[in-house]
Amino acid sequence: MIIQYPQELLDEVQERVVGHNLAGFTPGQGKLRPDLMLVGEAPGRHEEVHNIPFSGASGKELMKMLSTIGYDRESVYITSVVRQRPYSIKKVTDKKTGAQVVKKPNRTPTKKEVLAFANLFDWELEQVQPKIIVPLGNTALQRLLGSQVGIGQLHGHLLKQPIQHAKNDGSGYELAATNSLLVPMYHPAAILYSRKLESTVYEDWQRLGKIIKKINS
Ligand code: URA
Repeated sequence: MIIQYPQELLDEVQERVVGHNLAGFTPGQGKLRPDLMLVGEAPGRHEEVHNIPFSGASGKELMKMLSTIGYDRESVYITSVVRQRPYSIKKVTDKKTGAQVVKKPNRTPTKKEVLAFANLFDWELEQVQPKIIVPLGNTALQRLLGSQVGIGQLHGHLLKQPIQHAKNDGSGYELAATNSLLVPMYHPAAILYSRKLESTVYEDWQRLGKIIKKINS
């Protein structure tokens, strides 16, 4: 299912991102009260056009890994901490024609952009109520646990700890009163950049498969 966000939260995001280079709006999708909630960084160009989270090249890698532990797009919930595509503006010269063209490649969202979407993400998490949150890569991991942690140390580990929620005044984050279960994973795009990582990522997913089996038994 596609989640319907409250209009006042959508309006708040739009107020906070005025002047930022962000395009489209790709809602989160999937099952409520799932075993796993996969949390990415932000939609890319493919997602902006098709409006389906993780439907481009990294999505293909993600679905491959998910299927090795018996899940698919419909049996989990998939979202990102930022719901619009962050882009930069680059003027390049077309090699064939020599004409100047403007390109708008994807970029990593800034901390300010992640914070602008923080109330929306908190609301979404509360609706979804997953057994395990799976942050994919550093942007999602640091949104949830703070910028002192890194995916290089925590990937594939089961963590039981409070996650960060947005403060009411929008000035930053505070820790929740209760613990959540998390298993951070490398972002699937990391495999596309470095095929060497594939076996590590595969092993992490197998470990996650065992963790969720144990929780469900
Ligand atoms: N990367 C993300 O983090 N999310 C998407 O939906 C696509 C690529």
